Amino acid sequence: MKNIVYKALVVEEAEENVFTKRVKDTELDTLPAGDVIVRVKYSSLNYKDALSASGNRGVTREYPHTPGIDAAGTVIESSVHGLTEGQPVVVSGYDLGMNTPGGFGQYIRVPAGWVMKLPPGLNMKESMIFGTAGFTAGMSVDRISDAVRPEDGEIVVTGATGGVGSIAIAILSKMGYAVVGVSGKEDANAFLTKLGAREIISRKIFAERSGRPLLKARWAGVVDTAGGEILAAAITSTRPLGLVTCCGNVASPELPLTVFPFILRGVTLAGIDSQNCPMALRKRIWKRLAAEWKIAALDEIYREVTLAALPDEIEKMLKGQQKGRVIVNLDL
Ligand SMILES: NC(=O)c1ccc[n+]([C@@H]2O[C@H](COP(=O)([O-])OP(=O)(O)OC[C@H]3O[C@@H](n4cnc5c(N)ncnc54)[C@H](OP(=O)(O)O)[C@@H]3O)[C@@H](O)[C@H]2O)c1
Repeated sequence: MKNIVYKALVVEEAEENVFTKRVKDTELDTLPAGDVIVRVKYSSLNYKDALSASGNRGVTREYPHTPGIDAAGTVIESSVHGLTEGQPVVVSGYDLGMNTPGGFGQYIRVPAGWVMKLPPGLNMKESMIFGTAGFTAGMSVDRISDAVRPEDGEIVVTGATGGVGSIAIAILSKMGYAVVGVSGKEDANAFLTKLGAREIISRKIFAERSGRPLLKARWAGVVDTAGGEILAAAITSTRPLGLVTCCGNVASPELPLTVFPFILRGVTLAGIDSQNCPMALRKRIWKRLAAEWKIAALDEIYREVTLAALPDEIEKMLKGQQKGRVIVNLDL
């Protein structure tokens, strides 16, 4: 294929540990080798992108780099059977946007094993409103619904107004669960109530446990995105045989706990890793997101921005100020 010049958000290390982000002309020939070239139409902003864009070496080792762990677009060239030119696809997770140029560029070139056909029931834009955050919410709900029925009790969701949290609340409430949100935002109530939360607890109050190893048991299930004292408080107040999913660390990667919730209440802690989710499970979760988990509020939980607007959105995300999802239209 002949070389193409396209727009991408490029993060550069201007001097040691000082990172700049700007939209630059980039050449297709600079993309790594791969089986499939995709013209990206939409991407979305996830917490990991904000880390990559600010020089977090645990996410991205080398700069200059184009982040974007999510991409939806059209195949323009493919060397593999089953993925033909014009096929709408979703690429998310694996190494996309981490150490492989990602969806914050108009083109990506990736291994065929990372590419999933756009699930019937979702258009490209909807697939990115869900994006990795929605997919992770789906993986968390999948684990909870295997272990806990709506009649077993309440489910609490932390980081409630964030991407994972807001979508988890909407899906769980659609499934008939009684959902409680934990949020640090004072103006979260209207947004979360509309998604289906029946109560909102302030983050500060929720995390207060004065070092006690067990709190009064309340939750049948937990979707945690925060880690640290918040996850510890959630686990220590989970009911016997309840299930807690753990996907994030916006508060802290530490987990200050004793073993008592596990050995005295039989609580299960389930880790969620969307990045390396095997393709068969990935397709099963996306199929549900496109059907019974397709939330009514999908159109109300996102803002659509340009590549040029991303640096400001990234700063907001790092400060914990985003509500719902930010999607990127690569054609604007
Ligand atoms: N394991 C995986 O596969 C996977 C996949 C996707 C995301 N994640 C992780 O999940 C987490 C959430 O991702 P996201 O995309 O939902 O991010 P997000 O949209 O930025 O949402 C994070 C939310 O967490 C809350 N928060 C922010 N700072 C906090 C703090 N210091 N302490 C407690 N809560 C805080 C805020 O909600 P409130 O103001 O409502 O509290 C914020 O909106 C991140 O750690 C991300 O890396 C993991």
